[in-house]
Parts: sequence; C-alpha cells; structure tokens
Amino acid sequence: MKSTGKVIGIVSNLVTVETTGPVAENELCYINLAGTDLMAEVIKVNGNKASVQVFESTRGLKNGDTVEFEGKMLEATLGPGLLSSVYDGLENNLATMEGVFLKRGEYTDPLDHEKLWEFTPIAKAGDKVVAGDWLGEVKEGWLPHKIMVPFAFKGEFTVKSVIEAGSYNIDKVIAVLTSEDGEDVDVTMTQKWPVKVAIKAYKEKPRPSKIMETGVRVIDSFNPIAEGGTGFIPGPFGCGKTVLQHAIAQQGEADVIVMAACGERANEVVEIFTEFPELIDPHTGRYLMERTTIICNTSNMPVAAREASVYTAMTICEYYRAMGLRSLLLADSTSRWAQALREMSNRMEELPGADAFPVDLSAIISNFYSRAGQVVLNNGQKGSVTFIGTVSPAGGNLKEPVTEGTKKAARCFYALEQNRADQKRYPAVNPIDSYSKYLEYPEIVEYLDKTVEEGWVANVNRAKNLVRKGKEAQEQINILGDDGVPISYHENFWKSELIDFCFLQQDAFDKIDATTPIERQKYMLDLILGICDRSFNYEDFEECRGFFKNVINIIRQMNYSEFKSEQFDKYLNELNKTLDENGK
Ligand SMILES: Nc1ncnc2c1ncn2[C@@H]1O[C@H](COP(=O)(O)OP(=O)(O)O)[C@@H](O)[C@H]1O
Ligand SMILES: [Mg+2]
Repeated sequence: MKSTGKVIGIVSNLVTVETTGPVAENELCYINLAGTDLMAEVIKVNGNKASVQVFESTRGLKNGDTVEFEGKMLEATLGPGLLSSVYDGLENNLATMEGVFLKRGEYTDPLDHEKLWEFTPIAKAGDKVVAGDWLGEVKEGWLPHKIMVPFAFKGEFTVKSVIEAGSYNIDKVIAVLTSEDGEDVDVTMTQKWPVKVAIKAYKEKPRPSKIMETGVRVIDSFNPIAEGGTGFIPGPFGCGKTVLQHAIAQQGEADVIVMAACGERANEVVEIFTEFPELIDPHTGRYLMERTTIICNTSNMPVAAREASVYTAMTICEYYRAMGLRSLLLADSTSRWAQALREMSNRMEELPGADAFPVDLSAIISNFYSRAGQVVLNNGQKGSVTFIGTVSPAGGNLKEPVTEGTKKAARCFYALEQNRADQKRYPAVNPIDSYSKYLEYPEIVEYLDKTVEEGWVANVNRAKNLVRKGKEAQEQINILGDDGVPISYHENFWKSELIDFCFLQQDAFDKIDATTPIERQKYMLDLILGICDRSFNYEDFEECRGFFKNVINIIRQMNYSEFKSEQFDKYLNELNKTLDENGK
C-alpha cells in the first residue's frame, strides 16, 4: 500500500510532510493543492516526517493539504522519439520556444504515442536474455535505435515471441518474455528508469582507451578528451563556454548529443532554442538537432526541477549507450545545478559546507561524473557516454567549491581565462593551466602514437614548454624593457606567440578554421615546431618581431584555407620563402 501524508510546514519549495507509513529517500509524491497535483521528491526522512522538494510553485499551499506517495523515484521515459525533442528537467515537452507554459500540476507525455516506427526484430523465440539485451531495432532518423529488455528486469528471461517486422507505435507489445518463474511479461518500445540511478546493463566498464576528436585544436592536440571521458570548462561570463560547447557538440565524434541547458539568465535559455536548431552536422550535412535531445530549464521553473534536469539528461545518454552508441552529454552550466542543491540544503537548515553549499557537494558531483564512461555490453559491442560540463565560478574564482569539487571528478580541465577573452584570443582556454589526465594513460599515448604519429605526445609537450618559456620571457621583457633583455628572450616570446596565434587560437565562426581534423592539426603543429627549431637572422628585437609577425600572418591565412588546396599551397610557398630568406 502507498503511504499518504499531510503538509505540516512550508518554506518556499521545501515542504514538510507528516507521513502515515514508510517513505523512501528520493521517492516521488504528489501534493494536492485545491484539486491540482504538484509533483515533489522526498529529500530527507526523519521518523514520520519527510522533507519534500516540490518541482513547482507552492503558492497557496497550506498546512493540512494531503500528500500521496508513489512508492517509486523520479523516472525518465525512454523510447524512440527522444531525439530532436526539447524537454524540461521532468521531461515535459517544450515543443516551441515559448515552451508550452504548462499550468501548475500539468505534465506532458515525452513521447509521441501515434507515430509509427519501422521495427525489425533482432532476438528470436528461445533466446536467453537479460536487462539491456537487444530485442529489435527501429530507425530513429538514421540512427539504429535498439529496443531492449527493460533495464529494471531482474534475472534471465527466455524470449517467447518477437513481433514480425512492421510499422508499430511505441505502445505495441513487440516481445513477450518468460521469466525464470515461468511468468510471461510484455515488452513495448518504451520503458521507465529512475534518473538518479545509473543504468548498469553492461558487462564491464573499462577505462577509456581512445580519443574523441572535437576539431578544436587546443583540446584535441593539447589536452585531448577520451571517448567515454569527462571534462569541464570553468570560465567567467562571456569567456566562450557556450561557444566552445556548441563547437564540441557540432564536431565531436558522437552519435547522440544531449544538451542540458541550465541557464540562469533568460537569454542563455533563448540561446539554446534559437541557435542550436540552426547548427548543421558536419558529419551528415543535416541538422544536428536530428540526433540531439535538449533538456532545458525555463526560468519559471523552481530550483528542484533544475536539479532533476542533469540526471534526466545523463539517463538518456546511458540509454543510448546501451544501444552500442556513443553519446555526448554537455551541461551548461553545472554551477546552476549546484546552486539548486545549495538552495535546498539551506532551506533544510543543514549544516552548510564551504560557501553554504551542501557538505557532500564534492561527492554528489563525483557520483554524477562517474556515470560517464565507455562500456562493453553483454553482446561484446561498445558504447560510451562522454561528459563535458561548464562551470561558471562567481568572479572567475577557481577556488570556489563547485570548481574544486568538479576538478576532483573530471579528468580534463579547460580553464577559460578572462584575460585571454579580453584580448580576443579565442577559444580562451589557458594553454598552461589546462590539462588532460588521459595523456597519462599508456593506452591513450599508444593510441595517439598509432593514429596521429609516433611520439606525438612528446611533440605536444614540447609545444607546451615553448608556450611556458614564452610567458616567462614576456614577464622579463615587461620588467626589464625591450632593450634590457637578450634577443633570445624576444625570440622565445615570439615563438610562443606563433604557437598561440597559429595553433591555439581558432575562429569558431569561420567555415574552415572552426574544425581542424586531427591530421591537419598534426601537420600544422609539426610545421610550427619546425619553425621554432630553426634559427633566423635578426639584428635587433624589432626585426625579430617583424619576422615573426610576418610568419604568423601567413600561417593564419593557411588556417583559413582549405587544407592542401591551391590557396593553402600558395601560402605555404610564401612561408617557405620567408623562412629561407631569413634562415641562418
Ligand atoms: N572560438 C571563438 N571564436 C570566436 N569568437 C568567440 C569564440 N569563443 C567565444 N567567442 C566570442 O565570445 C562571446 C561570448 O561567448 P559565450 O560562449 O556566450 O560565453 P559564456 O557562455 O562563457 O558566457 C561570443 O558571443 C563570441 O563573440
Ligand atoms: Mg554561456
């Protein structure tokens, strides 16, 4: 029997309920407010008192209002049709930019029940199956969408029947399975899963072993992210977090993209509605939206729904991973999520941690990041969830708790710097402070040796050192003056500027420069390092500056030209001429 209760206390969206029976943490409940059911989630239980956070406005709620507990957690509905959809954190359909502007207590169905899908069976009668095994397939856009044994099914089942190929809606029973106890269960094309629990329908979760190319040079070459890896982008407002994430979404080697947009300012939410659907998928030439799900918090939603959104987004990614696909989750910004946690924890008057965030903030963040990863499915196929979140630290302070907590959880760190953004050095990723821990994995180094070139990581490290040396030289020049330092200081400084302007900086809005395939990245870095290795003639620092400025200009023209095109070769010839004329 389900438990019931009565409201006995209200602090904004945090409601205290006196319960009649046992309730569980994270259990869902509905509070009846004058005939409307408001959805809420249990966040704390103490004796017969439960603290619940309401996903909607609690205006008008009063003591004595009745509560019904559901006996289950907040669940996501999974099935064909998730892609190209825009949802809020509770999977309500926000079909248009204005959103449906749901009335309080109104929840929409995430999936279309009329639409027909072209189904092809995979399993056959007599097969032994467990949760996550593939029973059949429909085409969602051009992606193969597997219909699986629901993740909640426990134990082994025998396939009794699978429906023949044909067009069916999502509610059609496509298979009947017999449990070990001899009971028959129906399987349709949809299933539900509690968003806060990781889907574990796989054989193993080995650590990442290959790179996810993004076409962004400062990532792929300098600090690559692994397929199934984790990374985060901290940066102050206006430094390019969203632009960088959109570039990764558009160019990243992934099959399915889930964007969790947790904007605080209304215009950030509008951004995702207006800009994202326009993006073209460079891999297919079609709209990127066809293989994307957007989970979006509208500004009229209370904090609790914001917290739910990242979990719903992660669950959708895990769902596609179980189909043997590569999903990419981009959350912008996870600070808003952390703020939601803070608001709730403050209302509960919990003992606060640093900056009034919950004491277990770090653990919450780590648990979430650990849901990403590469998996080997029961059938031996591989799938992955790669996760990159942005963090917007107040005042750009990288010592604040969300950044610190995320640093412990994520393996790649792409620090956006106000200073670089002010100088329009985009992407404003700091080349020295940023890192990728994947470069410490022998299997990743081996992968790069094989796919890029032998010794690639050593080359990249050389480039990083040159940038570092250039920065030191710049500091000396600033203190001692142009004439107060040996010419070699100027040379070192300009070599680092050469790497910065010609390799690290990349115009996200130029058709060609926006994406650099790894083969081209290798070519350009080798070219640039080759120049850094040579010695040139210059009488004084002004000649040195003039020479490097000239070289930088030519290489930037190359970056804006189609790789190895006639135009590209023209600039290459010009470059070689300049180098030879000035070479020793
Ligand atoms: N790679 C880039 N190339 C060119 N311009 C960029 C790039 N990254 C950021 N910008 C500029 O910076 C502005 C702010 O970026 P945005 O991603 O919206 O910042 P944030 O999300 O950090 O607030 C963009 O509108 C754009 O003009
Ligand atoms: Mg932004």
